[in-house]
Amino acid sequence: MSKDVVLECRELGKVYREGPGDVEVIRDVSFAVGRSERIAIVGSSGSGKTTLLNLLAGLDVASRGEVCVCGVSLNGLNDREKSALRNRHLGFVYQFHHLLPEFSARENVAMPLLMRRDVAVSVAAQKAEELLTLVGLEARLDHKPGELSGGERQRVAIARALVTEPDLVLLDEPTGNLDQHTAEVVQGLIMDLSQRLQTSFIIVTHDLSLAAKMDRIWQLQDGGLVEQVSNSGL
Ligand SMILES: Nc1ncnc2c1ncn2[C@@H]1O[C@H](COP(=O)(O)OP(=O)(O)OP(=O)(O)O)[C@@H](O)[C@H]1O
Ligand SMILES: [Mg+2]
Repeated sequence: MSKDVVLECRELGKVYREGPGDVEVIRDVSFAVGRSERIAIVGSSGSGKTTLLNLLAGLDVASRGEVCVCGVSLNGLNDREKSALRNRHLGFVYQFHHLLPEFSARENVAMPLLMRRDVAVSVAAQKAEELLTLVGLEARLDHKPGELSGGERQRVAIARALVTEPDLVLLDEPTGNLDQHTAEVVQGLIMDLSQRLQTSFIIVTHDLSLAAKMDRIWQLQDGGLVEQVSNSGL
């Protein structure tokens, strides 16, 4: 595999076993994502976007095929190894933010660094503050998720996904809850990080103006990905 490929999947498939009938949500999907490449995935509700992201991050197990993250196949790794690989290489922003309710914004964002055990608490807290400032939450550092608005929680989740400076960030509808201005801030952050740190992005979005800013747009339909012609080629 090329050194410049951060994620590759081959013949990926996912079938949910549901009572009498199986539901085949992802069908024979293969692609590679290069370093600093930005990809938008669009598709109707229920088309399998969240399922696909979960497979790519090893949060769910594929029915067939393989995912490689920075050259390492997820097949055959146990949960602890997968979580270490995720912590090292990936950032993930869930569709529903999954922040820890009993911890402050600062602690939530610092958590992926603290999981590495070799990062001092003060360093992790400092880095968390930097990221929270970047997403405009410098005045909310000590707020717990229950004391934040929906859009603010989403921004904490974005800060948490970026704090480890991952090779690839997977975002599931990150701007759904955000006003126009904040959505543009997040968009700017994605552009800046892909240029400055060569971070790659896969972003699931219904926001077509955000999708149009990415290098490629893929539509998920009938379990497969179809490349959309982007505006830049016109
Ligand atoms: N754990 C599960 N068991 C059975 N079926 C599931 C499970 N999770 C998802 N599905 C089904 O798989 C399909 C794809 O779900 P998924 O959440 O990936 O869609 P999505 O594209 O992310 O939709 P949305 O835009 O609404 O978030 C849906 O039809 C859903 O009902
Ligand atoms: Mg979804």
